[in-house]
Amino acid sequence: MAARDVWGSRTAFVLASIGSAIGLGNLWRFPYVCYKYGGGAFLIAYAICLLVAGIPLLMLEFSLGKKMSNASPGAFRGVHKNLEWFGWFAVGTGFIICTYYSGIMSYCINYFCYSFGLSWGNTPGEFFFDEVLGITNNPQKPWELGAFKWPLFAGVLVAWIWIVASIWKGTKTVGKVVWFTVLGPWLLLIVFVVRGVTLEGASQGLSYYLTPDWSMLWTINPGAGQIGAHELWLAAISQVFFSLTVGFGVMIAYGSFMDDRTCIVKNAWIIGIADAMTAVVGGFAVFGALGHKAFLEGVDVAQVVESGPGLTFVTYPEIINGLPLPELFGVLFFTMLSLLAIDSAFSLVEAMSAAIKDKFGFTHARANLTVAGVGLVMGLPYLLGSGIHWLDIVDHFMNFFGLPLVVLGTCLIVGWYYRASRMRHFINERSEGKIGIWWDIRIQLIIPAFIIFMLAFEIHERLKAPYGDFGLRSQEVVFGWAMLLLVLLGAVALSVLKGSKEFQQRQPASSEEDA
Ligand code: PHE
Repeated sequence: MAARDVWGSRTAFVLASIGSAIGLGNLWRFPYVCYKYGGGAFLIAYAICLLVAGIPLLMLEFSLGKKMSNASPGAFRGVHKNLEWFGWFAVGTGFIICTYYSGIMSYCINYFCYSFGLSWGNTPGEFFFDEVLGITNNPQKPWELGAFKWPLFAGVLVAWIWIVASIWKGTKTVGKVVWFTVLGPWLLLIVFVVRGVTLEGASQGLSYYLTPDWSMLWTINPGAGQIGAHELWLAAISQVFFSLTVGFGVMIAYGSFMDDRTCIVKNAWIIGIADAMTAVVGGFAVFGALGHKAFLEGVDVAQVVESGPGLTFVTYPEIINGLPLPELFGVLFFTMLSLLAIDSAFSLVEAMSAAIKDKFGFTHARANLTVAGVGLVMGLPYLLGSGIHWLDIVDHFMNFFGLPLVVLGTCLIVGWYYRASRMRHFINERSEGKIGIWWDIRIQLIIPAFIIFMLAFEIHERLKAPYGDFGLRSQEVVFGWAMLLLVLLGAVALSVLKGSKEFQQRQPASSEEDA
């Protein structure tokens, strides 16, 4: 077939990007964030944020990487020599996420093992997320750190070894592997959705998922214990960024590997829609199971489980138990979840180590081992009994503050300093579908204004009442901000340090060999 040549180059890029985008963000994070922020209303906000901000930013990151022929730090340095630190800040935010992302991968790997004996409990409505993982998290006493969980450590070790092994020979095989890691989970997901929505009482969950309470989208001060509109929108936009892997420098690095004929506009749409579809379709399974649980317990869907990072580890076993051959489906499902996670995790490691190689002249092996080693050590606190509590806090601070700040900075730097119209012409030169001035308006005005507005509200609210149903204690807030500060300082340090290569190897190239 004539398309064969293309397959090896352009399609590999699309598939690798889809692989990076689709991951735990879709099947683990999306459901619990959606559940927590009101179901239907969140879904509307999510769709709007995807179209107005997510997909345009994906185009921006691809084109920035392509234009500067560099991963994030080198790309921003290409815009202005003093902006390298900003590129490191983006990668650093993603790196912190990677440290706990590997922790969730460890849950998946542990659940894979439990699948063989259904040891998460197999009576309907009876699941022991906490007991199974040995979590001793007591929200009232977060300083009781709990014991170190060795099975979780084993899982994290497997995850990191797997990540490093996957990129050991570069990402060349990613394009092939991804068919398996993306299409396989899709087939299984369909089985899960069918089972989830046919569980008794599922309709209650689905109506929570699909019926928006419109007023949530604009009520800023809804009263004590309720979610304000600014928080909902911030949750939606940061979930879009997290899920698309936008704002971590990953898509900048992937864009830099693109060949000249790759259509940026079309591919951004394909990736954006594929990613969102995976999350939304997966949501049917999870909310069906939540409805079932609510039905069994005779309570409201909104009250059935504590919303948080543990949610999906309760709902998926619920569905699995209801399937014929549950052990088989359990093993398949958690294998697939791990496979989805792996290409997301290694895209970030790859983005980080590419930058380290380009600046400091590290070998491929040394760069990857350094990143993985530091990531493993920094992820150890999440393996304590109280780990999931700290994970939730770090996730919140990185996604509610770090990520929006990175995106805001990117919009200001590219939109105003480099100029959006210049970047748009560059995008249009290499795209069949063209984008118009509406794109500039979004990058220069709408996205920054939206983020500034939401952030200002959120910071104001956080100063009044800390995060979480129970309210964060001051030491936890300090911990969250300290993490952000750490990323910032690390980024500045990395940019100030003199590297042996200083990105000299990759000058902006106008033509590129066909891979
Ligand atoms: N996009 C990935 C997902 O949805 C998450 C991710 C974020 C991966 C940041 C790498 C870096 O699972």
